[in-house]
Amino acid sequence: MAHQWRGVIREYMDRLPFETGDPIVTLGEGGTPLIEAPALAKLLDVGNVHLKFEGMNPTGSFKDRGMTTAVSKAKAHGAKAVIAASTGNTSAAAAAYAVKAGMQSVVLVPAGKISWGKLSQAVAHKAKILQVRGNFDDCLRLARELSENYPVFLVNSVNPDRLQGQKTAAFEVVDVLGEAPDLHAMPLGNAGNISAYHLGYREEVADGRIKKLPKLYGIQAEGSAPFIKGSPVAKPETIATAIRIGNPASWDLAQEAKRDTEGGFDAVSDKQILWMHRFLSQECGVFVEPSSATGAAGLYKLKQQGILPAVNTVVVTVTGHGLKDPDWALKDDRGRLIKPKKVGATADAVAGILGLEREK
Ligand code: F0G
Repeated sequence: MAHQWRGVIREYMDRLPFETGDPIVTLGEGGTPLIEAPALAKLLDVGNVHLKFEGMNPTGSFKDRGMTTAVSKAKAHGAKAVIAASTGNTSAAAAAYAVKAGMQSVVLVPAGKISWGKLSQAVAHKAKILQVRGNFDDCLRLARELSENYPVFLVNSVNPDRLQGQKTAAFEVVDVLGEAPDLHAMPLGNAGNISAYHLGYREEVADGRIKKLPKLYGIQAEGSAPFIKGSPVAKPETIATAIRIGNPASWDLAQEAKRDTEGGFDAVSDKQILWMHRFLSQECGVFVEPSSATGAAGLYKLKQQGILPAVNTVVVTVTGHGLKDPDWALKDDRGRLIKPKKVGATADAVAGILGLEREK
């Protein structure tokens, strides 16, 4: 009989702060595919690369892993409403899981700076959406303040229950590969995800499932790169709106992840992000939102500079689905809109345009 994946809390209950009988709010998140990407392995000149395709989660991003744990805990506390600041994906997940839990969600997003796909998800799941005149960092400051003084439960990744759920992605990588990769790269924004992978891999070492930690690499967009600057960025800018963040909440945890794993931080330009966004869809068959291409773009930059560490096995987390922000795929490399040709409804007309010769 086919086995249905039960969501990360039920699949990993013995390694999460949950017990049988606790309320569990799930949409079946996790269990996402680890996809071999030989084209990327060739580009980087490493033994093998796997893409951890987090766009395959129920709301289309890795945020669902942390949202099942955060909203389940909110439910256990009797919360009636959850609040989240977001560049789009957290709000989509918070809204969906709140519906499943029978709660109201409130989401604060930077005005005009989240993709239509993500906004439509929050609307669809009847979140109370406010567009804040400010950036993500302002939204997070407000969400924290509101949760301290009003009956709304904070579900951003500053809530430790979020990282507990997100660490399960590291467990899944080890379950599939049977060991840790040598290097694991991902986009770096508010820094919850890299901190959660560090936590997950550390637990795998402590439990004796793996012998060493993978080098964790977090890659930012050049216009929003506080980890490269070494201090917050007041006016973050990038087309990769998901990681348009100037003052990351999990600063210390991310620094620790880098230090402890002998990993690294770097930043890439919007042009490098969009180039890799296209490479992943055209050469690997994996359609991600532009921000999600940042991890791979960073590794390619290191390769071109000749400073990619000598590694054999690489995992790159691609964090969100391409359908979240599809406009970028509809432009060519000079930014012109791609419009498929129109044709009359006959086989000859179609064959003519395709340049096909009739078979004898
Ligand atoms: N990739 C995507 C698609 C994201 O949505 C985010 C963060 C990141 C990467 C960065 O992860 O913040 O843990 O370092 N999005 C948050 C949001 C901020 O509101 O959806 P991080």
